[in-house]
Amino acid sequence: MPLVNVIRGDRIDPAPINVRTPFIRIPMWLALSWWTLKALGRLAVVLVRFWYVTAPAVFFAWLYLRWGWAGPAVVVGAIAAVSTGWAFGHRASWLRFGWWPVLSRYRRWVYRRNWHAAMVTAKLAVSFDSHTVLPVLRKVRCASGVDVVTVRMVTGQIPDDFAKVAERLAHTFGVRQVKASPGPRPDVVLLHLFRGDPLAKVVRPLPVPAVPEFTALAVGRQEDGDGYPLRLFGTQVLVVGATGAGKGSVIWSVVRSLAAGVTSGLVQIWGLDPKGGMELGIGAPMFTRFACKDYAAMAELIEEAATTARNRAAKLRGRTRQHTPTPDEPLIVLVIDELANLTAYLTDRQLKDRIKAALSILLSQGRAVGVHVVAAIQDPRKEVLPFRDLFPTRIGLRLAEAAQVDLVLGDGMRDRGALCDRIPQSLPGVGFVVIDGDPTPMRVRFSYLTDDEIRDMATTYGRLRVIDGEILDGAA
Ligand SMILES: Nc1ncnc2c1ncn2[C@@H]1O[C@H](COP(=O)(O)OP(=O)(O)O)[C@@H](O)[C@H]1O
Ligand SMILES: [Mg+2]
Repeated sequence: MPLVNVIRGDRIDPAPINVRTPFIRIPMWLALSWWTLKALGRLAVVLVRFWYVTAPAVFFAWLYLRWGWAGPAVVVGAIAAVSTGWAFGHRASWLRFGWWPVLSRYRRWVYRRNWHAAMVTAKLAVSFDSHTVLPVLRKVRCASGVDVVTVRMVTGQIPDDFAKVAERLAHTFGVRQVKASPGPRPDVVLLHLFRGDPLAKVVRPLPVPAVPEFTALAVGRQEDGDGYPLRLFGTQVLVVGATGAGKGSVIWSVVRSLAAGVTSGLVQIWGLDPKGGMELGIGAPMFTRFACKDYAAMAELIEEAATTARNRAAKLRGRTRQHTPTPDEPLIVLVIDELANLTAYLTDRQLKDRIKAALSILLSQGRAVGVHVVAAIQDPRKEVLPFRDLFPTRIGLRLAEAAQVDLVLGDGMRDRGALCDRIPQSLPGVGFVVIDGDPTPMRVRFSYLTDDEIRDMATTYGRLRVIDGEILDGAA
């Protein structure tokens, strides 16, 4: 027994069972036929496995042998004619059953070719027991502008591991952005790879529905090209963005989607514009109450809204969990353009405390009883943003620094794809919407209303009553 280099523990033999295989002589013909059989079997497997290549190849070869060149040419022409007719006749079904499945198969092949290298360089390959284990590329589904790749993770991986290297994956696969979200099963992650950008174009003002859909306000377009439905019932909305990021367009998109409700009296929008009416002034007739100069009037508005919220909550307690707006008890939406002016920069200490107290009540109690806040803020620092957690819906437009993103939208949101600091100046009105409880941010572009369009909307739908305490009746 040596006295140095002693290692305690179980020693595992390289080959736990040592057996000597018996030596058998096989005749040549047997070996040859076995090999041939094996090769034929493998060939059959390959032919069946790549049926989408082999079946057409066999078919075309048969056509060629039977009719010469005319055979395949006629069939190709017929397929092209039918698919063109289908594409023009019923585009939706052609995309769904014709184009996307074909494209998906092709892209799956592309992803598969780069998969090994991509996983290793993104450090998603796991070394275990002296061999490498890769996440499994399961399925690729294409839609307009986006590929959804279903991946089975290696034991011990979580969707956030993929979210953290999303940018690396985007570069590797040559797409604009990658987002990772949990899949339908715990061991599956969905990677959304975005190719083009449906949000590159300005979104024109959307049609005003006769009755606002409070659970799905049409305010803009989302990343896959569909309309984005913003939920107002049960939530409060915070909008954060640098100067010129398009906070105004979020506010006006929301106001527009509610416009018909303002006319019918189902909705009251109260406007607070502490920057002197710069933003909300042109559409002032849309607001049932409006304050832009007098901070005391603004404090009173917020206090009144908070009182309304409390009264409604007391009345509805135990009866329903969601207030239904009626002309007698309308939905009240407080639109505040620069919230920091009221909660942080205000020099009058007493007024500031009053506003803060009323705002906390309003934000926490108002959402189930139809008293909502849509507040915009420019400065994302913590001391300016004390109410962040009371806003279940947070919208991050362009921000100056990466560190601000999680501060505004919540921890880990930048890793999950909310790249607010990467939104270029050339895309105002683009932002990421984060909803409490939903792990994936949604990239959205809000509709843009020019000053004239705001004025038009105000004359069509507006019914102004009170400005800074002065009562003005009827539409302006
Ligand atoms: N949704 C949008 N789509 C296109 N352009 C927009 C959009 N929102 C804003 N813009 C452009 O950006 C400019 C600044 O927008 P604004 O709403 O005033 O920014 P903020 O209030 O965040 O400082 C606008 O004058 C307009 O030209
Ligand atoms: Mg503004």
